[in-house]
Amino acid sequence: MPDKEPIGVIGVGWVGLVTAACFAELGHEVWARDIIPEKVESLSRGEVPIHEPGLAELVTKNAERLHFTTDMAATVSNAQLLFCCVDTPPTYSGDADLSRVEAVLAELGDSKDHALVMKSTVPVGTGRSIKRRKPDIGYVSAPEFLKEGSAVDDFMNPDRVVIGANGGSEGFADRVERLYSPLGGVMVRTDVASAEMVKLASNAFLATKISFINEIANVSEDLGADVREVARGMGLDDRIGPKFLQAGIGYGGSCFPKDVQALKQLAGNTGYHFQLLTAVIEVNELQKRRTIGKLQKHLGSLVGKEIALLGVAFKPNTDDIREATSLVLAGRLQGEGAHVRVYDPVATDRAAELLGGATVTASALEAIDGADAVVLVTEWPEFRELDWAGEVKGRLRNPVVVDGRNFLDREALREAGFTYEGIGR
Ligand code: UDX
Repeated sequence: MPDKEPIGVIGVGWVGLVTAACFAELGHEVWARDIIPEKVESLSRGEVPIHEPGLAELVTKNAERLHFTTDMAATVSNAQLLFCCVDTPPTYSGDADLSRVEAVLAELGDSKDHALVMKSTVPVGTGRSIKRRKPDIGYVSAPEFLKEGSAVDDFMNPDRVVIGANGGSEGFADRVERLYSPLGGVMVRTDVASAEMVKLASNAFLATKISFINEIANVSEDLGADVREVARGMGLDDRIGPKFLQAGIGYGGSCFPKDVQALKQLAGNTGYHFQLLTAVIEVNELQKRRTIGKLQKHLGSLVGKEIALLGVAFKPNTDDIREATSLVLAGRLQGEGAHVRVYDPVATDRAAELLGGATVTASALEAIDGADAVVLVTEWPEFRELDWAGEVKGRLRNPVVVDGRNFLDREALREAGFTYEGIGR
């Protein structure tokens, strides 16, 4: 096999576009197929629809090797390795919705020359079920571990690359391994079901770490400990590690809520009650709601109060608001009778559609103007740069700040006369 080989990417959403752009950057010709003609046209003009650092530059730089198309037949005739990157959103029951994967399968033949390389997060057992129906086509599970906001960097510098294949697909798995080998991550070769499980178990474990530290934070508040010091002291034990120990107002995003629920559901379908994950989900929901209590502690009833939320995106450096804490919080505040004003540096357009009744503002100061309290929801660096002691304080009706990410300078705020509430401090 030559060093560079043509690649097909099916589904040009966030994972698909990052995968396509990065493989093009590594020198491969990439056919990136999506069913939405407008998206394909705008990508062909170099317009990138998502906020992801470095991505637009890669798309422009590698335009000659990136072929955006709606044509599945062209994709299949140009490439043998077909990376499936379609969405698998949660259904109401918590299972993954595989209808888009099924739509891809319906369009694919069963050719021995091709392999479907599954990047979409799917339930354990999906690969086996696909192989039963399409015995000839190769099947490789290559779960995605990218983080939004640093996806290009994560792709180019992976900790590990997990590649799962069974029996007859090992040759395709070797080819997938060769694609990733210049990137230097540890190669983990497994069977298909184990690779599928690595993805769900990794996200479930990280979510567990977050819910765990959030509970330590809640207990620390009453016992007088500071969760940031506790996390630092714990994280230096290299069996624990410092990452994902930041207490806050709960995890969100397109992966953790969905994958934790999906793994719990998958276990349930086999008759196993996954107790730990049930608690992880519950803690995360309660964590979002605790902010209301913190506001009530200082403002009393929230009826008629103006509350400014800083940040809508589920984390900084992305415009993604799927399962964002801000949405739940805004809804709850409105339910308590408050009026909510929100600002986000990049996610405001999307927010406006979902935050019915809330006022979306064009700047942080506008959101804060005349508010009874500010809640920092997303730790965008620009929020730390605000002139808290001057302009912010001057515009607030009450100098109350709930810092949902322990991100602001507590001492400076207290010195400036703010009532400061962090998480677990
Ligand atoms: C996650 C996984 O990290 C990634 O490997 C997988 O491919 C997709 O899901 P992502 O959803 O982009 O990535 O975000 P991540 O940076 O992991 O953060 C998820 C959520 O956890 C955010 O809401 C974040 O604010 C929260 N979080 C993270 C915490 O509350 N505390 C932490 O210590 C870390």
